[in-house]
Amino acid sequence: MDSIRLRPLTRLFLALFLFFVSVGSSFAQGTAADPSKAGVAPGATAAAAPAAAAGATTGDPAAIAAGDALFKGNCAQCHAVNEVVVGPALAGITKRRPMSWIIPWIKNSSKLVASGDEYAVKIYNQYQKQQMPSFQLSDAEITSIIAYTTSQEGVGAPAAKVDGGAATADGGGAVAGEEADGGKSMNILLIVLVVVLIVLVVTLVIIANIMKDVLRGRKDLDGRDREVMEQRFDFSKIYKSTAVRAIVGVVFVLAVLYESVQGAMGVGLQQGYQPTQPIAFSHKLHAGENQINCAYCHTSVYKSKSANIPSPNICMNCHSQIKTESPEIKKIYRAIERKQPIQWVRIHNLPDLAYFNHSQHTQVGGIECQTCHGPIQNMEVVYQYSPLTMGWCINCHRETPLNTKGNGYYDNLVKLHDTENGAVPFTVSSNGGTECSKCHY
Ligand code: HEC
Ligand code: HEC
Ligand code: HEC
Ligand code: HEC
Ligand code: HEC
Ligand code: HEC
Repeated sequence: MDSIRLRPLTRLFLALFLFFVSVGSSFAQGTAADPSKAGVAPGATAAAAPAAAAGATTGDPAAIAAGDALFKGNCAQCHAVNEVVVGPALAGITKRRPMSWIIPWIKNSSKLVASGDEYAVKIYNQYQKQQMPSFQLSDAEITSIIAYTTSQEGVGAPAAKVDGGAATADGGGAVAGEEADGGKSMNILLIVLVVVLIVLVVTLVIIANIMKDVLRGRKDLDGRDREVMEQRFDFSKIYKSTAVRAIVGVVFVLAVLYESVQGAMGVGLQQGYQPTQPIAFSHKLHAGENQINCAYCHTSVYKSKSANIPSPNICMNCHSQIKTESPEIKKIYRAIERKQPIQWVRIHNLPDLAYFNHSQHTQVGGIECQTCHGPIQNMEVVYQYSPLTMGWCINCHRETPLNTKGNGYYDNLVKLHDTENGAVPFTVSSNGGTECSKCHY
């Protein structure tokens, strides 16, 4: 064998190979150049590390998606990630503050300000002493919100727009490091991996072809060897294979089944239901900004089974004086003149087969409205926050300890429970809160 003769196909692959190698290496350079382009010193990764340790920058897509929804529901009216709205831009917050500060701040910022926390007081004064509302969010929910805001840093806004005041106050570390964050570099890594894979495949094909060419030159091959050598990859074989057909069929059937089960589970679920109301009444304005107590309007919520919807008379306590010229308020006057109720659209509605009592939960159990109804005080238009399924009721009954303090009625029951299995708390379900007849007539 004197020289290797390259066939046209091999030449084509060789050309492709060279192309991918050059593309691949320029990508690799791109990644290396990227951080310096963003002005990040080598220290930036070190700076990002404590934030990740705090659990805030976990790239977990589920947490980010949950944080996205929570952020839009609770925070978006006052905050954006990359610009100042009512409150500061949240970009770089994990670099400014540890999670151990962020969580209590979001739960109750005024408490932190009142405690004299230096940073809290500073930012409170900086934003004209506007009070950020308190949120009944769990630590995990707050962590997911921060994971979401961190993932949005630098998206859709020039870096220079990032809140000058708060961001630079703590050493300007906020802008740096943003571009180096999780999402982007993951993507680049993926692209590089794909390119490497393609290069590998092309290399293998080239090697195979060259070896074939070499073999072709040899005379000592018998018929079967030649057959193996000349074998061509045959797509129709894959297509005809029963195994492949069976697998594709099973996957298809499973996908259809999964979709229909998901669909069936959702039948009758009203979570997120947000009808348009006849008057543009805003809980955000009344319960949020003007801090009117829920029970001022929903007068029976602590006393009886149902929370009532206020009659127009209650509105008139204020609106006989306030905003009397507003067209929306005139609708209240019209209802009163015509002696017709305002036709509010009902949002929460359990089927008749279930029994639910507000006073049992709000007065006796001491549960906040927001636990079941979400951040009503931030809702412009009310929507159904919880699923209101049986599983939802039961889960909470299983997990929530019964409020037995100072209630003599429970003393013996608790004693009995503690001697039998003191390790588990005395929950609503320990007291029979998961018995069918408690909730079903
Ligand atoms: C009604 C408006 C409002 C809402 C809603 C709101 N905030 Fe704030 N937030 C503020 C204001 C104003 C400040 C500035 C401090 C102050 O004045 O108390 C602030 C400050 C902050 C800070 C400190 C920022 C920094 O740069 O140090 C964080 C973190 C924060 N908010 C997170 C949140 C999160 C998370 C939510 C949603 C769960 C939320 N906020 C909802 C108004 C709001
Ligand atoms: C100024 C009176 C007023 C105050 C204060 C008020 N609400 Fe309401 N609420 C209404 C009116 C009117 C409706 C019916 C229209 C609507 O759905 O927006 C309503 C509807 C609701 C609904 C939906 C009812 C349904 O149809 O299922 C819930 C839940 C609710 N309020 C909870 C609260 C909570 C929690 C608070 C306190 C944070 C509160 N409200 C404070 C007047 C008030
Ligand atoms: C405790 C006092 C109080 C009660 C009760 C009350 N409101 Fe209001 N309402 C206010 C205040 C304060 C404003 C804000 C006025 C402003 O923006 O200057 C307002 C604003 C409004 C607006 C916005 C008007 C506009 O055009 O900007 C509507 C609509 C409204 N209320 C409807 C209602 C309805 C319906 C009820 C009865 C279910 C009700 N309010 C009960 C105090 C009250
Ligand atoms: C344990 C969960 C839970 C808590 C806590 C709770 N609610 Fe409800 N709320 C519900 C459910 C479930 C319904 C639907 C009831 C039905 O259809 O019979 C409802 C319905 C309502 C309605 C519509 C009218 C009605 O009674 O059907 C209003 C208004 C309301 N809630 C206000 C409040 C207010 C205000 C608070 C706090 C003081 C509160 N809720 C606390 C679960 C809760
Ligand atoms: C956020 C938690 C939570 C949710 C959600 C919840 N409950 Fe409860 N429920 C409680 C607590 C706590 C008590 C015990 C109150 C007490 O007696 O101290 C209770 C008590 C009850 C009781 C009385 C039980 C007894 O032993 O006498 C009934 C009935 C009940 N709930 C029905 C429901 C129904 C129906 C739903 C769903 C629509 C529901 N609950 C959703 C927390 C919850
Ligand atoms: C804590 C309250 C609670 C307890 C305890 C409870 N349920 Fe329910 N159940 C509900 C609620 C609320 C619904 C309505 C849910 C919905 O509309 O999705 C419901 C719905 C149902 C339905 C569906 C009815 C329909 O038409 O869709 C059945 C069946 C049912 N329950 C059976 C039971 C049985 C059997 C038990 C005892 C093992 C039980 N439930 C215990 C609250 C409860």
